[in-house]
Amino acid sequence: MNICCIGAGYVGGPTMAMIARKCPDTKVTVVDINAKRVAQWNSDHLPIFEPGLDEIVRATRGRNLFFSTEVDEAIVAADMIFVSVNTPTKTYGMGAGRAADLKFIELCARRIASVATGRKIVVEKSTLPVRTAESLKTVLSANSSGAEFQVLSNPEFLAEGTAMADLESPDRVLIGSESTPEGIKAAETLVSVYAQWVPRDRIITTNLWSSELSKLVANAFLAQRISSINAISALCEATEADVAEVSFAIGRDSRIGSKFLKASVGFGGSCFQKDILNLVYLCDHFGLPEVAAYWEQVIRMNDWQKRRYSQQVVSSLFNTVAGKKIAVLGFAFKKDTNDTRESASIYVCRDLVDEQANLAVYDPKVSENQIRKDLNQGEVLVDGRPNTSVVIEQDPYAAAKDAHAVLILTEWDEFRDLDFQRIFDGMLKPAFIFDGRNILDLKALRGIGFEARGIGR
Ligand code: NAD
Ligand code: UDX
Repeated sequence: MNICCIGAGYVGGPTMAMIARKCPDTKVTVVDINAKRVAQWNSDHLPIFEPGLDEIVRATRGRNLFFSTEVDEAIVAADMIFVSVNTPTKTYGMGAGRAADLKFIELCARRIASVATGRKIVVEKSTLPVRTAESLKTVLSANSSGAEFQVLSNPEFLAEGTAMADLESPDRVLIGSESTPEGIKAAETLVSVYAQWVPRDRIITTNLWSSELSKLVANAFLAQRISSINAISALCEATEADVAEVSFAIGRDSRIGSKFLKASVGFGGSCFQKDILNLVYLCDHFGLPEVAAYWEQVIRMNDWQKRRYSQQVVSSLFNTVAGKKIAVLGFAFKKDTNDTRESASIYVCRDLVDEQANLAVYDPKVSENQIRKDLNQGEVLVDGRPNTSVVIEQDPYAAAKDAHAVLILTEWDEFRDLDFQRIFDGMLKPAFIFDGRNILDLKALRGIGFEARGIGR
């Protein structure tokens, strides 16, 4: 079997590395139009940080895993083509701010159609609006000269930071196909790939539309739990209940379950917001405004939680942070990834820059360039000042030196073990600490002398 994957990103790279690892007889080629990214995949410094990824790439690259910019060549040689390109929220025209931008997907379909010959299975790996497979099939068959295509939906459920473990031992693999004999046969071919390491009862086959929709719904349900507990965190602050105790107490009910009930400064990542907006757009499109409004509230609550945190920082610091140094510990949207897409840290930092604070940012894995880009450093602010109010530090103690406040915005393990006495000694007084991830012992911090705040505690 010869597999090609279009899109060497956070999903394409790790997913294909795992297939190559588990299916040594399958040749896997990951292609991308971004030559820099492909070069990084072929180097010792992979473009993404993911625990366990380096080892697997090192073991398979050059053996049965290849990264290349030769898109056409890889399509021609493949029996099965995964499409794993980005599907961001549209920023222009109809559905701007909500609908998924499908231009990259369509470009792939046109590319595949123009060069492919013979029988090809095209697999949707990207997260897509329900019924996209129909458009894909139409574009493929209208533009091909004689090739035959089966389109499958195989959404990816990995979470960043735990991608390799999720891929090695997934809760389930979902494969949607047409219910024609050819569709079912194509699905069986893909089942046989995963069955090389995933127990058969964890491989679910459904019709195309259920598969496409399940991906959006899974993310909506997960994000909804976070918004639900974050809503309760505000009530805890008003009533002296402790949100961690409430989470624990309700999570012990096996019907509710304990996962994804951690109150935080707000969820981030490239998927939750984008996929819920997409779901909301679809509901509106299909004439279901009440359903759309219901899901939209998950995003609104998340926006409110991020803003509530910034406001708490400003109001605690005597209603002004102008000219004050504030240390920001953590920029990634969660621990164990260098990904900053939609990170709550970006929103909080922007709010504080608008308030004219001076930020010192430290993150163990995010590059200085990325932080500068996300915070529009060097650009002109609304009030005409150049935006130069952020410095990037290589160590958390330097970031906290002479700061009025320390903000914990990513739950990196190393932040739990910092020498907080040393941090306190170096700060201006009163020294504030705002734990946006509830990873610190607030009582111990107060014992040192900090004004310590958590979320919902
Ligand atoms: P990404 O931006 O990291 O990677 C996408 C890659 O596709 C980029 O490198 C881009 O250059 C490439 N690309 C775009 N158009 C191309 C084309 N025409 N030809 C060749 N290459 C092209 O995105 P990602 O995070 O890997 O996400 C990919 C898809 O998977 C999205 O639909 C996303 O919603 C979904 N998804 C992401 C995650 C996640 O944790 N990141 C999890 C599950 C599903
Ligand atoms: C998510 C889904 O979990 C995954 O199945 C899907 O394939 C892609 O989207 P990801 O965004 O990578 O994965 O990470 P996830 O662990 O879901 O965390 C998303 C955000 O929610 C992070 O900012 C995280 O810190 C936050 N979060 C998560 C909470 O605030 N509280 C929680 O209890 C869990």
